[in-house]
This record gives sequence, structure tokens and C-alpha cells, in this order.
Amino acid sequence: MHTGFIPYSRASLVFDVVFVSLFFLVILVGISLLAVMRGHYRIHKGCQIASTAALACVLLYFEVDIRTSGWTHLATPSPYYHTILFPFLYLHIGVAAISVFLWSRTLLSALRHFSRPPTPSIYSPSHRQQGAWAMGSLLATAVTGWIFYWMAFVS
Ligand code: HEM
Repeated sequence: MHTGFIPYSRASLVFDVVFVSLFFLVILVGISLLAVMRGHYRIHKGCQIASTAALACVLLYFEVDIRTSGWTHLATPSPYYHTILFPFLYLHIGVAAISVFLWSRTLLSALRHFSRPPTPSIYSPSHRQQGAWAMGSLLATAVTGWIFYWMAFVS
């Protein structure tokens, strides 16, 4: 049954929540990036920890819900169901798994290496590089997730 709130979509509530959460997450990470580029290191740290905590809660809700309620019955009317829907889903899961690894590594090493309150240090170049990959992979996860949502539940 369609229990979500996004119009013209067959998705259940949990997919709609994830769809919209990813949007807010990308905005929050964008704010975090602007903050750190202007020298507001504490705001950057706070935004990164908050976005990680929010993402962890949403992912937990998502995993529990899809294991108990399933989702494939909502996607069967999709014209992509028997063609590229599942290969694309595996691509999205692969990108998401890489993103979880890069994100956790960046967050944990930043917490370990920067002072409190955080300021640029000898660790900065390494963190900037790790952070760029982590942010890029998050964006790729969000974009592939949105495309999957459209293919499965809207088209
Ligand atoms: C997954 C979590 C994080 C990501 C993806 C991330 C990402 C980034 C990126 C991309 C930059 C470079 C910005 C630029 O080009 O100027 C940066 C800089 C910085 N980040 Fe993070 N960050 C994360 C967590 C943290 C945490 C937890 C701290 C503090 C403990 C922190 C402290 C800093 C500092 C101090 C800088 C400035 C480095 C410098 O320019 O010298 N970051 N971060």
C-alpha cells in the first residue's frame, strides 16, 4: 500500500522519509563546507557530527522497515522492474557502502587528530583529502538513491 507523502509516488513512508532526509543531509553538509571554508571550525565539526547521527537514525529506521514490510510489491508497476532496476540498485548499494566506509573513517580520524576546539593542524591536508572523498561519495549515494526512487516508485 502507498503510505508515503510524496505525490505521484507509489513508495511507502520510509522511502519518502529517506528521500527527503538525503536532501536535507546534502544541504547540511553544504553548510558545513561553507562554514569550514570561512574558518568556522566548531560549526563544521558540529554539522558533521549532527549529520552523521541523523543519517544513522534514518538508516536504522529504513533497515528495520524494509526487512519487516518489504518494498518490491510497490515497484512491480515500474517499467524498469525487469530490466535495469535491480542492477541499478546494486550499483547504489555499492556506492552507499563505500560512502559509509569513507564517512566513518573521515569522522573518526578527525575526532582523533584535531584539537578541541578544532583548529587547522599538521593533519589538515590529509583530512581535507579524506573529507572531499567522503563528501563526494555521499553526494553520489544521494543522487543514485534519488534516481532509484524515481525508477522504482514514480516511473
Ligand atoms: C565525515 C565527517 C567530515 C567530513 C566529510 C569533513 C570534510 C571536510 C572538508 C572537505 C574539509 C576541507 C574544506 C576546504 O576545502 O577548505 C574539511 C576541513 C576541516 N575539517 Fe572536516 N570533515 C568532517 C569532520 C570533521 C570533524 C569531526 C572535525 C573536528 C574534529 C573536522 C575539522 C576540520 C578542520 C579543522 C578543517 C580545516 C582544515 C584546514 O583547512 O586546515 N572535520 N573537512
